[in-house]
Amino acid sequence: MGKSTIRIGLLGMGTVGTGVVRLLTAHRADLERKAGAKLELARVAVKDASKPRDVDLPKGMITEDAVSVLRDPSIDLIVELIGGLMPARMYVMEAIKAKKHIVTANKALLAEHWAEIVGAARANGVEVYFEGAVGGGIPIIQSLSEGLAANRIEAIFGIVNGTSNYILTRMDKDGKTFPEALKEAQKKGYAEADPALDVGGGDAAHKLTVLTSLAFETTVPFASVHVEGIEDLTPQDFVWAREEFGYVVKLLAIAKQEEGKLEVRVHPALLPETHLLADVDGAYNAIYVVGDAVGATMFYGLGAGQMPTASAVVSDILYVARSIAYDVAGRAGWGPFGDIPHTPVNLPVRPMEELTCRYYLRLSAMDQPGVLSAIAKILADHRVSIAAVVQKERSKGDKVPVVILTYEALEKDMQEARRQIESLPAVKGKIVLLRVERGE
Ligand code: HSE
Repeated sequence: MGKSTIRIGLLGMGTVGTGVVRLLTAHRADLERKAGAKLELARVAVKDASKPRDVDLPKGMITEDAVSVLRDPSIDLIVELIGGLMPARMYVMEAIKAKKHIVTANKALLAEHWAEIVGAARANGVEVYFEGAVGGGIPIIQSLSEGLAANRIEAIFGIVNGTSNYILTRMDKDGKTFPEALKEAQKKGYAEADPALDVGGGDAAHKLTVLTSLAFETTVPFASVHVEGIEDLTPQDFVWAREEFGYVVKLLAIAKQEEGKLEVRVHPALLPETHLLADVDGAYNAIYVVGDAVGATMFYGLGAGQMPTASAVVSDILYVARSIAYDVAGRAGWGPFGDIPHTPVNLPVRPMEELTCRYYLRLSAMDQPGVLSAIAKILADHRVSIAAVVQKERSKGDKVPVVILTYEALEKDMQEARRQIESLPAVKGKIVLLRVERGE
């Protein structure tokens, strides 16, 4: 039997939680019409109930006792917006066992405990919705689960971390250094509490893990995702990439399936400046998805922020509420949490050293005879063929930057060549090595 009132328990009332309450209040009549039921915010659990809030809630609705919300038998749906692994994981698992449906925006939790949450949700006949976990307001989860369900997904290329994309855009367009651009991004409030998660690629890797697990109906172990950040880039890399070779530099989250194996990686990459993703600038996110029937599609929008993320969370609330109202919740759900038989075998992740692509190398070398030929010999010895070299005449000091673009090479060979070039006495400091992606 369905229900005419859906009671919601909210865990966490930070930026996004506040946005969710705002949206539920402002659009109540429309949302209830779409859900076919009344939506009642029953309880809100927070860490500090005495903290002033930006939205008015009836007295007694707020509690510091999250467990009492999870155990309240009158609550149908738990909205988890605490973030992080603990205590969110414990609360979500307890709520699932109490047969409550879940809406969460917790990318870390889903990325690191996908199999556990999928298993518990299916065993208990509950649905878990997570549109807010990837791409803020962009409806990418729903699109992969429903809109593209007729396809075999071939590849995903995502710009899914607004902070890094903002930083890269400022380095590219304004010539800012990495620390200058990071400071600006933090001032604008884009960065995570720990900015290392943004600039080191960890946040994007969480989101990619979720997208890949969903799109390829598999469980991607988070530890198997190759992750590199943007910390070593300089504004000059953007100039060389664009002016010498016709590329932009983006932090890309990439998943591809080939011959039953997955590539799952996050790293800065050179992307042709004609690619649709090349124009995704600032704090915007975009996810480029290639399906075998649909071809290439791109989903674009604000990847973070109070109201964009609330838009995603409230749309999830609406889906669950409607399913409960029509008594199909947990029986006809979509994606990995529905009642659909699952791919029995997880797809293996291809080791990074088996990757083949073109590379961009930037190094600093002494301006003296024989240096370029020594570098070229090491590359040749490792089957790496040079496509282009840029070396500008030295203006000050005795070192010059050398930039090399290669043809396709094997990652294993490229990394060994990089180590040997770095150990040449005439080569100073570390080599910056970027992969070149066609993005298709
Ligand atoms: N710090 C994240 C970003 C927020 O910059 O995209 C949204 O997950």
